[in-house]
Amino acid sequence: MALRRFDLEAGGDTFAFKPETEEKIAFWRGKYPAEKQRSAVIPMLWLAQKDNNGWLSEPAMREVADRLEMPYIRVYEVATFYTMFRLQPVGKYHVQLCGTTPCQLRGAEKLKEVCRKEIGDIMYVTDDGRLSWEEVECLGACVNAPMVQINDDYYEDLTPESLSQILGKLKNGVEVAPGPQIDRVNSAPEGGATTLTEPSLFDGSRNAITTLPNLPSAEPEAAAEPAPAEKPKTTLIGGGAEKKAETGERPPMVTIDPAAHDDLKRIKGIGPKNEDALNELGIYTFKQIAAWTAENVDWVEDFMSFPGRIEREDWIGQAKTLAEGGETEFSKRVDAGDVPSSQEDED
Ligand code: FES
Repeated sequence: MALRRFDLEAGGDTFAFKPETEEKIAFWRGKYPAEKQRSAVIPMLWLAQKDNNGWLSEPAMREVADRLEMPYIRVYEVATFYTMFRLQPVGKYHVQLCGTTPCQLRGAEKLKEVCRKEIGDIMYVTDDGRLSWEEVECLGACVNAPMVQINDDYYEDLTPESLSQILGKLKNGVEVAPGPQIDRVNSAPEGGATTLTEPSLFDGSRNAITTLPNLPSAEPEAAAEPAPAEKPKTTLIGGGAEKKAETGERPPMVTIDPAAHDDLKRIKGIGPKNEDALNELGIYTFKQIAAWTAENVDWVEDFMSFPGRIEREDWIGQAKTLAEGGETEFSKRVDAGDVPSSQEDED
């Protein structure tokens, strides 16, 4: 970054915006509320610089400060901070040469030599007033490095020869088309695109919208998947309300001669009501209960609304013993008629 010196002498004593600039000033000031007009200081300085042959004189800064009712020092601080504002006269064509790493690696040093040779030192204005140059930081066109900005335009993919030619033409009043100075379109690869080259990408043939999410399909609907079998709804005997177990897996049912079913009340925890409920589920024998899986237990507990009870009372252990022809202390008492609860369910 070059040292920026403010030229107090060159600006004279007065500055006035061009009449045609007033509309732009009104546009920018109109973006801010009355009490925040100072926020327009940067666009105002930019317009002042354009109306002052590309640089900000001291009277130009004062004019901006007066219009925005700002202290002069505040405007000076902004103008001297941002390098987009130039503090001394420049040529009709002012060259900003990017000297940051990508441009440096691609030959910016050689371009500087051209500028020194064709123009002179940094910020020197040629005698005819046409050219000046300075080095700036990255201008955001690194893909096309090395590059320069001349007034408002970028000139990219430069070589010492191409920059020399551009400067020569500008010196002679001949305009030069901005942009890449080689066979490159914008920032595309040199020599043309290397990807996305299929013509159908650009001829509109892919633009037809064939489907949109959630639109009714024109195609006949595919046969719907059969819905998963719903768990059977069963009536809980005694409760009177229809209820369906939500968890676990229903135990297998059997059809059995009622005369041949086991007395499930010999299992501690099963009274007449629960036995009826189990019978309705197709559970008639100790062998069935002995074979219950944990999922079956979950299902029955959920269905009968007594979570944890089957395990706590060890229905399965009791059922295994009884299914093998054995007895439990409880079954002995039931068989002896000593258990009234085998006549009524415990709550
Ligand atoms: S480094 Fe030169 S444009 Fe980014």
